[in-house]
Amino acid sequence: MSEQNGCSNGIACLGGVGGPWPRRLRVGLLDSTLREGEQTPGVSFTVEQKLEIARLLDEAGVSMIEAGHPNVAPDVYEAVKRIIGLKREGVIRRAEIVAHSRAVKKDIEVAAELEPDRIAIFYGVSDIHLRYKHRVSREEALSIIGEVIEYARQYGVKVRFTAEDATRADYGFLLEAVRTAREAGADRVSIADTVGIATPYAIRRLFERLTSDEPGVEYDIHAHNDLGMAVANSLAAVEGGATIIHVTVNGLGERAGIAPLEQVAVALKRHYGVDVVDLRRVVRLSRLVERYSGIPVPPTAPVVGENAFVHKAGVHVAGVLANPETYEPYPPEWVGRSRDYTIDKYTGRRALQARLERLGVRVSDEELVEILKRVKQRASARWLRDEDLLEIAEEVTGRALRPRPPEEIEALVTVKCEANIYTTSVARRLSIIPGVEEVAEVTGENDILLRVRAKSPVELNQVVEAIRSTRGVRETYTMLVLRRIPMSGGNGGQRQQ
Ligand code: COA
Ligand code: ZN
Repeated sequence: MSEQNGCSNGIACLGGVGGPWPRRLRVGLLDSTLREGEQTPGVSFTVEQKLEIARLLDEAGVSMIEAGHPNVAPDVYEAVKRIIGLKREGVIRRAEIVAHSRAVKKDIEVAAELEPDRIAIFYGVSDIHLRYKHRVSREEALSIIGEVIEYARQYGVKVRFTAEDATRADYGFLLEAVRTAREAGADRVSIADTVGIATPYAIRRLFERLTSDEPGVEYDIHAHNDLGMAVANSLAAVEGGATIIHVTVNGLGERAGIAPLEQVAVALKRHYGVDVVDLRRVVRLSRLVERYSGIPVPPTAPVVGENAFVHKAGVHVAGVLANPETYEPYPPEWVGRSRDYTIDKYTGRRALQARLERLGVRVSDEELVEILKRVKQRASARWLRDEDLLEIAEEVTGRALRPRPPEEIEALVTVKCEANIYTTSVARRLSIIPGVEEVAEVTGENDILLRVRAKSPVELNQVVEAIRSTRGVRETYTMLVLRRIPMSGGNGGQRQQ
């Protein structure tokens, strides 16, 4: 149970399930939010949004950014071009910038003229894709794959070959395609589970076979999430020898998307002790991509969802209050978040007492039991706000526990004077109105500034009215000054400040 196996931060690694991985893993992330992510129905990022996302991804520490398929549309071309520009200027410091391309010379030419670090050329390798999409034989496919990769390599750019639909391809043919790609100059091959059909065991086996049968290239896993297996399959691929996992922020992508960056990154740390990105940046990335994509993150989403560290049932909260490890797989601080718990009919005594203490309220055991009883009677409330809880506690204890409304209102009143009247004499008249605390002559659009205090809105109105009806005053404008009034507990209250 050493730190390097991900057992730090007081989280114990269990043997067996979720246990530490014995070998040191070499793995990084390729983020495809800008390419695969923009293939999410309804999503279209602006060029500026893409630049911002790319910069944040680089700062977070992803190894590669798949910036787009330049031949798709003018704005996609522009975005890829400007992201490559950021890399050249040193704004993007680390991430390799990847341009996407079909196995078509025109696509390659358009991508190559932007001089990305790498071109990723995809081609379907399953019989379904060969027959119905490409309408070529296996032999023809191999010659196309070899030819286009050689063509791209002539531009002096690194090439990744993506074996699309690899998980439904005949293994022997897949291996031939990988070899052809390597011989033509590709240094990486992405194994795409294009329809999310694989299982972790099958994926691990596939990568073990490929890395052993064709060790001359490095392997990526591109796992779609149609059956909810994308993260599991990505981890299994890494166990089988893959060194790059394709991800998108919030798991965006075609249909059910691909493996979410935030989940993969946390899982790699939790299970293998590997830090692939700065985890404290993933929540910010998620919120940004949620806003720019318009695709909401559900509350139950792992890592970034609103509820990811919120406990509800009394038994859970009691456990977490004693030791968070009881119901948390890793501490929320890993991703810069904090834990919380809700109060409702599922609440127990310990949770309720802890919440009241947090609100600065101490109650006797009998009062606690009574408050809990009343909380549970509010079955219709989805959860009780602190305000609701304090109201119940006031009813039960008979003590004032909630902050009182402010006892005084302060306002600033600006005054414009009639043009022909001497400002100083108006100011003098205003200064004797009860409630006017301070008077100052000012320059600019207004002539006089007043500070006014009143005990109630009605009284404030009276003061302002008196100001308005003062001779020489042409116009007034009133601004309320809001200030935090110290929360005294009222009579016998115990609320702390
Ligand atoms: N390599 C080479 N050709 C491919 C291919 C590949 N990996 N995948 C598909 N094709 C061919 C198809 O066989 C089809 O050819 P056909 O017209 O002879 O039948 C064509 O590409 C795709 O059809 P279509 O989209 O109608 O062609 P298009 O020329 O109008 O547009 C794109 C091509 C790529 C510009 C357009 O589809 C597009 O903007 N796509 C968005 C990006 C995309 O599809 N990415 C997939 C990533 S997995
Ligand atoms: Zn995909």
